[in-house]
Amino acid sequence: MDLKKFIRDIPDFPEKGIIFRDITPLLKDKNAFQYAINEMTTALKSIDFDVIAAPEARGFIFGGALAYNLGKSFVPIRKPGKLPYKTLSEKYQLEYGTAELEIHEDAINEGEKVLIFDDVLATGGTAKTLKSLIEKTGGIVAGMAFLIELTYLNPRKLLKDEKVISLITY
Ligand code: PRP
Repeated sequence: MDLKKFIRDIPDFPEKGIIFRDITPLLKDKNAFQYAINEMTTALKSIDFDVIAAPEARGFIFGGALAYNLGKSFVPIRKPGKLPYKTLSEKYQLEYGTAELEIHEDAINEGEKVLIFDDVLATGGTAKTLKSLIEKTGGIVAGMAFLIELTYLNPRKLLKDEKVISLITY
């Protein structure tokens, strides 16, 4: 199945000059959604890990389904002020603007192997931040997986030593 048919390009969103890759048509099509989850599930069997960590909002949609499918636990990484317990946080640069993410300080056990999942790998800034948050908790990043990778933004230059999987590339 050509999953790109289910990704809608929105020019100049959320800012002029950015092409937003809208995954809602893929979520709307039950066969495409299931196919994407199944393909990613298969790809992730090549990585040894205990936990999937994913950021809101769109990382949750796939990350939760993948964790369920693979029998792994799930750790939510959230925007500031959303997590109720003690948090660790990290500020970073986004393709558009700056941002901050938080994780519960006890979300991951010392030495646990963590797979990072997100819907889009653009500049790589978010993925790099997720990695440093996970390492702050004592976790070890075993790999990173993305539904979509924007290779033209060269994100892998920030993720040199990582095992990176992406299903759809632009
Ligand atoms: C998008 C996407 C990734 C991030 C990738 O998130 O879901 O998390 O940008 O960009 P980067 O590789 O340049 O860091 P967004 O900030 O739009 O958050 P949302 O999922 O909550 O809408």
